[in-house]
Amino acid sequence: MRIAVPRETDGGEPRVAATPETIKKLKSLGAEVAVARGAGIASGIPDSDFEAAGAQVADVVTKDADIVLKVRRPAPNELSAYKKGALVIAVMDPYGNEAALKQMADAGVSAIAMELMPRITRAQSMDVLSSQANLAGYRAVIDAAEQYGRALPMMMTAAGTVPAAKVFIMGVGVAGLQAIATARRLGAIVTATDVRPATKEQVESLGAKFLAVEDEEFKNAQTAGGYAKEMSKEYQAKQAALVAEHIKKQDIVITTALIPGRPAPRLVSKDMVASMRPGSVIVDLAVERGGNVEGARAGEVAQVGGVKIVGYLNVPGRLAASASSLYAKNLLTFVETLINKQEKKLAVNWDDELVKATLLTRDGAIVHPNFLPKTAT
Ligand code: NAI
Repeated sequence: MRIAVPRETDGGEPRVAATPETIKKLKSLGAEVAVARGAGIASGIPDSDFEAAGAQVADVVTKDADIVLKVRRPAPNELSAYKKGALVIAVMDPYGNEAALKQMADAGVSAIAMELMPRITRAQSMDVLSSQANLAGYRAVIDAAEQYGRALPMMMTAAGTVPAAKVFIMGVGVAGLQAIATARRLGAIVTATDVRPATKEQVESLGAKFLAVEDEEFKNAQTAGGYAKEMSKEYQAKQAALVAEHIKKQDIVITTALIPGRPAPRLVSKDMVASMRPGSVIVDLAVERGGNVEGARAGEVAQVGGVKIVGYLNVPGRLAASASSLYAKNLLTFVETLINKQEKKLAVNWDDELVKATLLTRDGAIVHPNFLPKTAT
């Protein structure tokens, strides 16, 4: 059983899909592991550390690999170096990328999309969305603090008092909760909003204040799966009026709102941005999915009037060492379920719900029900 860890080919991707710790574990499961030269450099892991953990470091690693571990979906030119039938496990970004899925099917690989892992107890340690969003929430506050020309905590000094910054978090999923906790640790006065009623208690338990229009629609705004629904136009208008009043008085706003399978909801309008005082900072963590903030630009810090709108891409990658460590661990716990531990052999149970939920392609075809080609349905 051979496992390969190639170097990421996307220039903006500093993370790596294995660490010395996970390689030791994979070896103990009977795998031979090959890591591409330099694959860990941007995450602070030199080749020598991979070698010390028992990996072979080489220029070409995928040729004979039964499993390929990656951060991002392989590009077509990478696929030509993969073995037919290889299991390729990565964040595949499948929505709207059907052509890329077809290329993986044509290459004969079995592609697994880690972000489709069901959010059930058994798979909690494999949840890449959570592990990466948690770090993104933390980093968003650090990025905001870096752009903000004032201190976050209140400081009483002989030369006068610096007031505490007011931080408003919009969207309280995994990233938002971590952003609240981080901003609180830095001494800010924190408020937060979400459309899911369950978040109110979570916000308050972190010492922040909850703000939302709490009408009948709000009370039913959570899907059975725990996600947000798209809200009615009327609700959105009421919520926007409340938010508009609040945002004027905020120094830092961090938006993290997402709705699965839809573009990110627009929560902060141009007028709201213009109402903020000069020197304020907004961080839009949803910028890769269309953005929550009008005027946010992907990959940039946009200066809109006196307000900075931070739209960094790949925010977990801005903490590459931590992000790689958690991501590699997510992959390891999933790979463990694919191995027969007695025989130390790859033994994929194609009927396992984790495999069924995440498998995109197999035996030359797209197999995931959400992405079947139109003619085949
Ligand atoms: P997400 O990344 O899909 O969305 C972020 C947040 O934006 C959510 O809290 C959502 O309610 C909010 N949002 C959407 N539209 C909004 C709007 N118009 N205004 C304000 N906020 C809006 O969410 P994430 O972080 O993936 O978490 C979703 C759910 O999954 C949560 O209930 C979380 O507790 C749950 N979860 C469960 C796990 C498990 O059981 N293993 C693991 C991780 C999360």
